[in-house]
Amino acid sequence: MQIILGITGGVAAYKAADLARLLANRGHRVRCILTEAGARFITPLTLSSLTGEPCYGANPDQGEWRAVPNIEHIELARWAELVAVVPATANILGKAANGLASDLLSTVLLATRAPILWAPAMNTGMWEHPAVQANLDRLRSFGHAVVEPGEGVLACGEEGSGKLAEVAVIAEAIQVHGAPKLPVLAGRTVLITAGPTREDLDPVRTLTNRSTGLMGIELARAFRDAGARVQLVLGGDLPAPWGVETLRVRSAQDMLEACEARWTAADGLVAAAAVADQRPESPAAEKAKKLEGNETLVLTRTPDILARLSAARRPDQWAVGFAAESEQHLGHAQGKLLKKGLDAVLVNDIQGGRGFGAQDNALTPITSEGPHPAIGPLPKDQLARAVVQWWARRLEARQG
Ligand code: CTP
Repeated sequence: MQIILGITGGVAAYKAADLARLLANRGHRVRCILTEAGARFITPLTLSSLTGEPCYGANPDQGEWRAVPNIEHIELARWAELVAVVPATANILGKAANGLASDLLSTVLLATRAPILWAPAMNTGMWEHPAVQANLDRLRSFGHAVVEPGEGVLACGEEGSGKLAEVAVIAEAIQVHGAPKLPVLAGRTVLITAGPTREDLDPVRTLTNRSTGLMGIELARAFRDAGARVQLVLGGDLPAPWGVETLRVRSAQDMLEACEARWTAADGLVAAAAVADQRPESPAAEKAKKLEGNETLVLTRTPDILARLSAARRPDQWAVGFAAESEQHLGHAQGKLLKKGLDAVLVNDIQGGRGFGAQDNALTPITSEGPHPAIGPLPKDQLARAVVQWWARRLEARQG
């Protein structure tokens, strides 16, 4: 993505350097625009060194500033695929909310047709002032995104809200806001299960599996970026993705209950969780003591979440499952498609250690038409995006 990063005058301006580097490392082209006040906190040389792109500003005489011919604001406005202002002061919010264009950044903000994102940072009193909040509401009404500041000790010594959001959170919001939306998914709710489940034997021992939940989390991000509202029911320890409603669960029974409560309001389901098929029949309330010799553990079946939701679905709801197979993978997966009444099964060939915990993965979709060409191998974030695009094309055809 081609990103314009506007940096206005605030102590948090130094964090914009971290953000610029993070975005550039992720393969984005980042061009910074410093306001005059921003340039008192950070230098153009820092930014151009980190991004490998020129840094722009109002005053071409200083150091690495790029000369700004009259028409440059239009070129920059056209070049941008997203404009992010980090940190955004009350002043720039006020200008943009009222259509004022008095320097390069405010002119680009007015001229661009690219999505715009704000990460404000300011003193608590300023942040809470009705004038600032009214300006933010007005910017939101234009379709701009706002990454709300957090709470903490501010540079002015006060404690309260107004602290710039974490750089990683702003980077994720830029990804979401700048990603192309898929109309067939826009405004739709997708329920996703992800991660391992944990079935307790006693208060300290657990039966689980090697799934991390990364594939399901990347699918949640990809559906979110495509414009869907995502409800993620997540097992395991990986952090929940930003901008996704996540419910953390432990056992298969917890996961079932969380999913059942959300299923009616959803348009579709992607079951990426590695659900334990069995749980201890009688978990102990106290830590079990070791016995002499062999011990036998009696297991009982857990509910099949995917099968239950699929059986309870309306004709307009869709359901996609996963299958992890180490042999005869297409045959077994076809069986699952029919048995659980699914629209598609994504088959993960786990032979040779692929799948669980691996960085790259490949998936073969199976539908009632049979197997489709494999998607991948790709890193899981790219694989998830490719899966969402493949599925969106099928949904479009179905509606078509
Ligand atoms: N699934 C589920 N609830 C379960 C078990 C599985 O929702 N109790 C879902 C998984 O999230 C996945 C699909 O069903 O989408 C996997 O089906 P399953 O029949 O369990 O396949 P495998 O785990 O590959 O099991 P096996 O081959 O042992 O039958």
